[in-house]
Amino acid sequence: MRLLRGLLLLLFPVFWAADARKDEGRSGRWMRGRGRARAVKRFAADCKESSANGEKYLDCQERQLKAVTLGWPEDIDHLLLARNRIQVLRDNTFSNFRNLRSLDLQQNEISRIEENAFSGLSKLTTLLLQHNHLQVVIEDVLIPMPQLRYLRIHDNPWRCDCQLDSLVRFIQVPSNRHFGNYAKCAEPTAFWGSKLKKLDVDQLCIPQQEKVEIPQTEHEKLPAPIKQSDASTLCHTYMHPVPHLDCRNRELKTVPADIPLDIVRLDLSKNNIKQLRPKEFVTVKDLKLLNLSGNSLERIDTAAFAGLLYLNELDLSNNSLKNFQYGVLEDLYFLKRLSLGNNPWICDYNIHYLIYWLKHHRGVYHTGLVCGEPEEFRGWSVEDYVKTYNGECPKDLQFGQTADPAGITAQELTAETEEEELGPIPYRGPKKYEIIRLT
Ligand SMILES: *[C@@H]1O[C@H](CO)[C@@H](O)[C@H](O)[C@H]1NC(C)=O
Ligand SMILES: *[C@@H]1O[C@H](CO)[C@@H](O)[C@H](O)[C@H]1NC(C)=O
Repeated sequence: MRLLRGLLLLLFPVFWAADARKDEGRSGRWMRGRGRARAVKRFAADCKESSANGEKYLDCQERQLKAVTLGWPEDIDHLLLARNRIQVLRDNTFSNFRNLRSLDLQQNEISRIEENAFSGLSKLTTLLLQHNHLQVVIEDVLIPMPQLRYLRIHDNPWRCDCQLDSLVRFIQVPSNRHFGNYAKCAEPTAFWGSKLKKLDVDQLCIPQQEKVEIPQTEHEKLPAPIKQSDASTLCHTYMHPVPHLDCRNRELKTVPADIPLDIVRLDLSKNNIKQLRPKEFVTVKDLKLLNLSGNSLERIDTAAFAGLLYLNELDLSNNSLKNFQYGVLEDLYFLKRLSLGNNPWICDYNIHYLIYWLKHHRGVYHTGLVCGEPEEFRGWSVEDYVKTYNGECPKDLQFGQTADPAGITAQELTAETEEEELGPIPYRGPKKYEIIRLT
């Protein structure tokens, strides 16, 4: 008995200690977790400084930043802020960076730029604002930058009305030939997809009848589009062997409304559909085959294929597609076949998303991915084009952005000597460098 009590007395502290350790482990982990969170926060603004060819770079990319913070070195030539979470550029944000020659703000969430946001940037030559949420910017914003030569503003949901008038006039000045190329209107419908560079400015201040917003981001919040025609009156339904809706050759301009919910094969081939809007097929959850071959598709919204979890086969052949917007294919978990032939694919950096996606979905058998433009790559397979692009890109390798499908960088632009009219062209390295591979 005494022995037992002794044992218990001996064991109790052991259990107690073990328990305490467990607790300590928990709180220790928690503390460490908090410590780590703090560290990340502290390092978040801790950008990387480097120099190359006598120029100073401050690399603050992908750091979840919401603003430019104090305490950054100010004598830098290039400030890289891509892929952060900046929403508003306030007055005088950059006024201490007097030497700045390039400013990369692409892939943020910028929806507003205050009038004096860029004041003090008298040496800036390159400003990258593509892939943001801008709808309107006035010319005054650009006035503090007399040296500006490159301005990228594409992939912003530009609202082409009277407020945009001054910016449009500004980028259309012939000497501003590297300003705002590829930027397109998202609104109003009458101007949807029109290039800012090519807009008839005099039309901007005439009210357009109908203003339907074509949103491009945050597709979860969007309602499914309103549709005119009704599938049941226009198309033939077959139930065997699987529910099948045949809307071939019906002169459809949009995806018809009321597609029966149990349809497994949907044939929309040989119509005249130009655009796929967000959530176009979201109610047809069992869809396994979608045939859009032989339409005039030019644009597919990022959320067009939302909900098509079980889609096996997608035929987009024989359309007018030039590239895919970033994110278009992300909903297609079980895709096995993708037909892409007979489209005028443009082999420039916009095509990289598609290749990137295919690389990460090796089970997808695809056909017909051939460059239609530019001339020098016509007839090449798009994969070969991308390989060439990556293989000849020393600066990209240096900055570790070779596989980034969604943007060009400030280095690329400042090194660019001549820009072609076709689109943001692949950066193929300044000619003064030679790559010598040692084998
Ligand atoms: C899609 O439709 C076209 C034209 O109707 C047809 O030639 C093609 O075979 C169809 N694709 C698939 C995957 O069924
Ligand atoms: C492509 O579509 C057009 C228009 O629908 C059609 O006339 C043509 O035959 C199609 N070509 C191929 C190769 O399917």
